[in-house]
Amino acid sequence: MASPASFSASNFLLSLALASHLASIAFAGSFYQDVDITWGDGRAKILNNGRLLTLSLDRSSGSGFQSKKEYLYGKIDMQLKFVPGNSAGTVTAHYLSSQGGAHDEIDFEFLGNLSGDPYIVHTNVYTQGKGNREMQFYLWFDPTKDFHTYSVLWNPRHIVFYVDGTPIREFKNRESAGVPYPKNQPMKVYSSLWNADDWATRGGLVKADWSKAPFTASFRNFNANGCVWSSGTSSCSSASNPWMWQELDSPSLERLRWVQKNYMIYNYCTDVKRFTQGLPPECTMS
Ligand SMILES: *[C@@H]1O[C@H](CO)[C@@H](O)[C@H](O)[C@H]1NC(C)=O
Repeated sequence: MASPASFSASNFLLSLALASHLASIAFAGSFYQDVDITWGDGRAKILNNGRLLTLSLDRSSGSGFQSKKEYLYGKIDMQLKFVPGNSAGTVTAHYLSSQGGAHDEIDFEFLGNLSGDPYIVHTNVYTQGKGNREMQFYLWFDPTKDFHTYSVLWNPRHIVFYVDGTPIREFKNRESAGVPYPKNQPMKVYSSLWNADDWATRGGLVKADWSKAPFTASFRNFNANGCVWSSGTSSCSSASNPWMWQELDSPSLERLRWVQKNYMIYNYCTDVKRFTQGLPPECTMS
């Protein structure tokens, strides 16, 4: 039988452990606090006290989650580690989107491949329900080995897609030329892992190898430095957010040009065969 002293000591340790457990759950940046798992019937899992989230995909379903909050402008960072090995046919999507028909959307999609063959980073911007603004890239590292940071900066001036802090694409506000710009509709952050083997890998030629399932992608360090939108008001006063009026400085523009010169594999703005009536207006302005 335990003596009263040893009982209270173990009780004390237990409450310490419990307190630190609760503290880590309550700590900002926890997936428990920040997101809702929306589909996948148990295939999406929050682990490590909320610091890690994994999505998985098998023959019968993928999985996904979305942010609890909506944002109207922000700098949204997420670290991702993609499905390793033979990931052909899988797509990991990570995007911001508003609701409804004439919606706005800012998309990252990561298209898997056979072992050793490169992932494609597919990007798109929808404004008022209209997309067709795809740009695609290879990466300068193996995105399945480690976590890397994929970010979207969305402010009144432009939308910038970043990989590890390097801008890969800029979509400027060209409202003055009649191009709609996302500015009225708040967006949530969505991530999912799903089967797209009818188009994703080499245009659908390479199918998913279900003997390798379940496929798993991992997420951590979700950091939404955004203007939270709630009941019609924004949490931001613009002056307080350094990213709100941020433009690309010349070192960033140089990095952007480096990526686009060496890693861009598709740019809708140069696809004259596709846009037979003329390139979209935002493509023909500097
Ligand atoms: C997969 O690898 C092939 C061969 O290197 C390449 O052409 C293709 O762009 C890669 N990515 C995808 C998603 O198909």
